[in-house]
Amino acid sequence: MTIHIGAAKDDIAPTVLMPGDPYRAKWAAETFLDDARCVNQVRGMLGFTGTWRGHPVTIQGSGMGMPSLSIYANELIRDYDAQTLIRIGSCGGMQDHVGIRDVILAMTATTLSTPSRGMFKELNFAPCADFGLLTAAHQAALAKGTTTHVGGIYSSDVFYDERPDLNEQMMRHGVLGVEMEAAELYILAARYKRRALAVLTVSDHLITHEALPAEDRERSFGDMVEIALQAAFA
Ligand code: HPA
Repeated sequence: MTIHIGAAKDDIAPTVLMPGDPYRAKWAAETFLDDARCVNQVRGMLGFTGTWRGHPVTIQGSGMGMPSLSIYANELIRDYDAQTLIRIGSCGGMQDHVGIRDVILAMTATTLSTPSRGMFKELNFAPCADFGLLTAAHQAALAKGTTTHVGGIYSSDVFYDERPDLNEQMMRHGVLGVEMEAAELYILAARYKRRALAVLTVSDHLITHEALPAEDRERSFGDMVEIALQAAFA
């Protein structure tokens, strides 16, 4: 039990999927895990543990933004000894060739800042995904036939962004999508020698201004969860 996670030590699996939304954690656990049980309800940030094809898996909400994710990832790593942490979340598309419902596997994550900024001081650390997880996720996505892009994303501190000039620079430099959590997850995984990846579904688009209709969300997000599970146990 930690400050933010009420689970007993053995209730958290070595493999943790982390959606931002606690209700998506509940949906994913009920849909994809066997014998899923709720292991955390502190602050409503639901966590569930069950098995997938016999492997123990925890699906724990991270909340929105890097400060929130940092709390849960720190406690999962340092107190519960989580080894593999995969963010499953949504992102905004930032390239013409990236469509709504497509999956993005985040190879790197650009930022203006992260919760680790103060520690790194003048160092511009380059947060990157675990290569083994990345390639396994890519294989799983190809096998499923999901339209998938592998490359850099932007982990932003704001959803309501007042810097269109920055988005423009990132689009120029091939950044595929924007979300708000992956960079700090990658930094923590690097610091503690764990494996991390962000598997993202494009839910809205910064160029076309399309957004995923509510009724399509479940099926689209399901592909992402299966890709994450297959990558974790490849
Ligand atoms: N911006 C930031 N985070 C997001 C977005 C976005 O457009 N879509 C989904 N997560």
